[in-house]
Amino acid sequence: CGIVGYIGHRDAYPIIIKGLQRLEYRGYDSAGIVLFDGKGTKLAKTKGKVEDLIKRSKESISLEGKLGLGHTRWATHGVPNDVNSHPHYSNSGELCIIHNGIIENYESIKTALTKRGYTFKSDTDTEVLINLIEEVKKQEGVKLGKAVQIALNQVVGAYAIAVFDINKPDEIVVAKLGSPLAIGIGENEYFIASDASPFIEYTNNAVYLEDEEMAIIRLGKEIKLRKIKDDAIAYPNILELQLNLEEIEKGGYDHFMLKEIYEQPRAILDTYRGRLLADQGIIRMAGIDQNLERFTNANRIIIVACGTSWHAGLVAEYIFEDLARIPVEVEYASEFRYRNPVITEKDVLIAISQSGETADTLAAIKMAKEKGAFVFGVCNVVGSSIARETHAGAYTHAGPEIGVASTKAFTTQITVLTLIALKLGKANGALSESKFHEYLTQLEGVPAKVEKALESNAIIEEIAAVYKDSPNCLYLGRGYNFPVALEGALKLKEISYIHAEGYPAAEMKHGPIALIDEQMPVVVIATKRGHYEKVVSNIQEIKSRKGKIIAIVFEGDTVVKGIADHVIEVPETIESLSPLLTTIPLQLLSYHIALMRGCNVDQPRNLAKSVTVE
Ligand code: G6P
Repeated sequence: CGIVGYIGHRDAYPIIIKGLQRLEYRGYDSAGIVLFDGKGTKLAKTKGKVEDLIKRSKESISLEGKLGLGHTRWATHGVPNDVNSHPHYSNSGELCIIHNGIIENYESIKTALTKRGYTFKSDTDTEVLINLIEEVKKQEGVKLGKAVQIALNQVVGAYAIAVFDINKPDEIVVAKLGSPLAIGIGENEYFIASDASPFIEYTNNAVYLEDEEMAIIRLGKEIKLRKIKDDAIAYPNILELQLNLEEIEKGGYDHFMLKEIYEQPRAILDTYRGRLLADQGIIRMAGIDQNLERFTNANRIIIVACGTSWHAGLVAEYIFEDLARIPVEVEYASEFRYRNPVITEKDVLIAISQSGETADTLAAIKMAKEKGAFVFGVCNVVGSSIARETHAGAYTHAGPEIGVASTKAFTTQITVLTLIALKLGKANGALSESKFHEYLTQLEGVPAKVEKALESNAIIEEIAAVYKDSPNCLYLGRGYNFPVALEGALKLKEISYIHAEGYPAAEMKHGPIALIDEQMPVVVIATKRGHYEKVVSNIQEIKSRKGKIIAIVFEGDTVVKGIADHVIEVPETIESLSPLLTTIPLQLLSYHIALMRGCNVDQPRNLAKSVTVE
C-alpha cells in the first residue's frame, strides 16, 4: 500500500492525489482520501484506482482542507471494496487513520473491543487499530500521541500509519514498524509518504522513520521523534534528497515499463560508472573494499531475494561460482527464513531487492544477522529499509522503477553482482589478470549492445501479434540463460496473464515436452555460447512435435535460423554477460503481448511493486 499525508498552508487535495498517483505502483485495488478543514472531515474512498478516486471525490465531497491523508491499497484483510478502503474513522468519528501493513493479532483485539461496544464497518485490521487507539485514549485519558504509542505496544504486525484527531487540527501522528515512512519537511508544512516521490517538488529535506519510531508532527513546531517501546527520545536525521521529478514521470513513453526497458543502456552504465575503471584495471566498490576479507574468507555466499530479484540471484550463482569460485546458494527469502537454515559466521548473505522493502527479504536479513553472518545488500532504492539494515551494500543506481514488472532493476542487479564477482575473483586469485581485463572490456561494451538489442522492437511486436492469444507459453534456456527463461516466463504471466513456465532446456524432456503441440509457443534462448549444440537438439525435439519456436540468438546465427519459426537477434558477448542482452527481447515480447491483450501493463491485477507484507 501507499500512504500520503499533508499538513500546512496549501490545499491538501491536489498534493495528496498527485502523491497517490506516484505511489500507485505500491498497490492499486482501492484508494481513499480524507480532508480536514479545521471544522469537519470529508471522506471519499472507492474500489479501483486513483482515477476512480478523483471522480468519486469531485462528485461527493468539497475539496477544501489544509490537512489530509490519502491511501492506495493492496488488500491484505478484506476484499477490495469501498468500505474496506482507507482512511478509516474510529467509532466516535473523531480519529482518522491510514495504514500500510498488517496487524496480525487484530482478531483478538477486535473481540475485546466488540465486548466494549465497538462496532466495525469494514473487515480491515486497520479499523480495529484506530478503535484500539480511541479506546486507549478514553481509558487512559491521554493525548493522541500517547494513545497511539500505548496501542502500538499491544499490536503484533507491521505498519506505517498516520492518524489525526479532529480536536487537534494542527497535528498528525505517524509511526513505523516494517513498512516505510518518510516525512518531508517544508516551510511551515509537512508531508508524509511511503517514499519521497509525492513531495519531491516541494522539499528536498526528509526524515525516514526507523522501525519502532513514531513522530508527532505539529505545525509551527519541530518534529518530535520517540521510540514506541520505551518512549526514549530519538533525534531526526534530516537527509537531503537526490530524486528529481523527471525520473519519476513517463517522459514521452506510453508506459513506465516501456520507458524503463529503454532506459537500460543508461541504467547499466550508471551502475558501473565510477566503479569500473577499465584503464586502471580496477573495480572500486566501497562496500566490498571495506569488507573484502569477509568475502574472501567466506565458506559460501547465500543469496536471498523474491520475485525478479531472485532470478537475478540465480544468474549471480553462475557468475560467482564461475568467476570467483565461491560456492553459492540462492534462496527464496520466504522459504529461507522459515526453514531453520544452517547459518554460520563464515557465511556471507547477499540480499537483493529493488525496493529494499520486501518484508520476507528484510526478515531473512535480520535472521542471518542474529546468527552472525555478514549481510550485504543490493538495492535500488536509496535509504530503503534493506539498505539500512545490512552491514554493507551496493546500490544498483537504476533510478526509480515504477512499472510493477521489474525490468531495469533486473539487469542492473546482474551488473552489480557481476562487478562483485569480478572483484572477488581477482582478489582470491580465481581469475587471471588477463581474464579479468577481458571481462572489464566486455562489460563496458554492454550498454551499446543493449541499445542494439532494443532495435528488434518491431520484429518482436510482429511476433507478439502472432502469439497474443496463446493460453500457454514455455521458456527454455541453459546455464546462464536458464534464470533468464524463468524471468521471461514471469514477465509474461505478470502482465499478460498468459500461463507461462520457464525450464532448463534439458529438463524439458522430463515433463513439459508432454505439453508440446502445434499450439504451443516455446521461447528458446539459444545463444552461441554455452551448450549451444545441446539447445539446438532441444529445439529439434520441439519442432518434431510441431511446437512453435521463438529463438533468441546471437547476431549472425545460421543454424537456429534454419529451424526456428521466429528468430530475434541480440549482439554477441561472452556467456556470463549474455543474460544482460537475452533478457531484453523477452521484456519487449511480454510488453507487446500484454498491450495487445488490453492489459494494464504498468499495474497488472493483484500485484504490487513493493510487498511489505509477509
Ligand atoms: C514484487 C514485485 C516484483 C519484485 C518482487 C521483489 O512481487 O512485483 O517485481 O521482483 O516484489 O521485490 P524487490 O523490491 O525485493 O526486488
